[in-house]
Amino acid sequence: MRVAFERADLATLRTPLLCVPLFEGESFRGGPLDQATGGVLAAVARSGDFSAKLGSQALVYNPREQGPERVLLIGVGRAEDLDLERVRQTAARLARRALDLQVTEAAILFPRRTKLEVRALAQALTEGLMLGDYKYDRYLTAAAPSKNGAGQRLRSVTLVVIQEADRKSARAGIERGAILGDIVCRVRDMVNAPANELTPTNMAERAAAAARAHDFTCQVFEKRDMQKLGMGGLLAVASGSDQPAKFIVLEYNGAGRKTTPFVFVGKGLTFDAGGICLKPAPKMDEMKGDMAGGAAVIGALEAVARLQLPARVVGIVPATENLLGGSAYRPGDILRMMNGKTVFVDNTDAEGRIILGDALAYAQKYEPRAIVDLATLTGAALVALGQVATAVVGTDRQLVDDLKAAGDRTFERLWELPLWQEFEDLIKSPIADIKNSGGKNGGAITAAAFLRHFVGTTPWAHLDIAGTAFLDKAEGYRPAGATGVGVRLLADYVEAQVSKRRPARPSQRGRAKA
Ligand code: BES
Ligand code: MN
Ligand code: ZN
Repeated sequence: MRVAFERADLATLRTPLLCVPLFEGESFRGGPLDQATGGVLAAVARSGDFSAKLGSQALVYNPREQGPERVLLIGVGRAEDLDLERVRQTAARLARRALDLQVTEAAILFPRRTKLEVRALAQALTEGLMLGDYKYDRYLTAAAPSKNGAGQRLRSVTLVVIQEADRKSARAGIERGAILGDIVCRVRDMVNAPANELTPTNMAERAAAAARAHDFTCQVFEKRDMQKLGMGGLLAVASGSDQPAKFIVLEYNGAGRKTTPFVFVGKGLTFDAGGICLKPAPKMDEMKGDMAGGAAVIGALEAVARLQLPARVVGIVPATENLLGGSAYRPGDILRMMNGKTVFVDNTDAEGRIILGDALAYAQKYEPRAIVDLATLTGAALVALGQVATAVVGTDRQLVDDLKAAGDRTFERLWELPLWQEFEDLIKSPIADIKNSGGKNGGAITAAAFLRHFVGTTPWAHLDIAGTAFLDKAEGYRPAGATGVGVRLLADYVEAQVSKRRPARPSQRGRAKA
């Protein structure tokens, strides 16, 4: 989808669909648009049917031959309550209505009278349009647009700006929103892709292609490299599958070699059958999405590169299947991990923490300023927070708070669970350093307690996206299936960190004056 912006005259703007966001109590009769549509809006106002409550809609047709063919009034609630999330949701409503109406072009009037910055507003509108319009239709052979218009997609949307002064900021916001929208949609494609297409090899190829296109590097380690590095965890999980595992390392350097990097680690289970501790059949198909953390990390690297953020960012994705072939690892096995720790395999279905353990240990070599891992790690996170919030656990107050703040801004919200010492006791084993399952109770936390054994003293946070990466049914601009969660969050987090003002050191002159 192309999003552009234009300063246009409402009376003459010809478009199949013009969306007009309206605040409660805002009058829409008598203005230039009402005149252009022959008083149709005044009639809507008279009827009292449209209150401009958040989410309300009225579609009217223009009897005249100039001006917009259709006007979609969308209520955005009270002006003082407008925030960026409501803007995204509003834009997504337009995208879906356009899809229903089978129009390929639309325009939206840029909301005024808000305290929101023009750039942020334009970015949120663009994100909402692109994320709301997503559909995974790669394998629907009948989805190609037909002559009668069925299957048409929204191709271009114009943001109609009234104030000339907003032009530059609006353009910058659209550009950023379009970059993020595009990446999130491709991450969704990756997560929705079936496991027979998206193998570890294919995932590595996609990462390499993104790196080539956007000026960051991609290294892919093979089995022999994992052996040399002593990645006993990743090798064990991979041993049950005929698909070769890949260890993907991405590096974006926007800030010079000597800068300490952020390291993002993502779980890349391209299919999790549970291994010998086989999962039950219902919903097992959804485990094609068990690489959502890895996909988000690849997307986040692309995002920081395309936004050209002045930071060093490393992405690490251990990618494998968890199957039950003849060489599969077994319950009772004891593994030696890259950092030397031994792990008793209590349950082969708790495989994510095992491959992440090696990846987190590998991350240490960068001496990172922070490590953040993303993983569809536990059913327990889904039970605790539903499909609404991502669970966060960490060792560093500031890091967790900064991530939460990014979560609030992007509406990829995080909720913290406590990593108290008591949970550590649940993963003790009498014959190895730790075991890979702490049982059902507090499952999201015991998984994090396991991971903590591999992060040393580096500030670290773990995001369990088991509930937020994949939805049963569509909700707002998040479609059924993959949501692409994590990309906007991580990009926003890095951006906030690098634009944070360093505490100003008083200069000689300043001090003398005081
Ligand atoms: N990939 C699953 C977790 C998961 C479950 C993600 C549902 C998304 C939706 C993970 O590998 C897993 O199987 N975890 C087990 C751990 C248990 C055996 C300790 C779980 O949560 O049941
Ligand atoms: Mn599993
Ligand atoms: Zn898994």
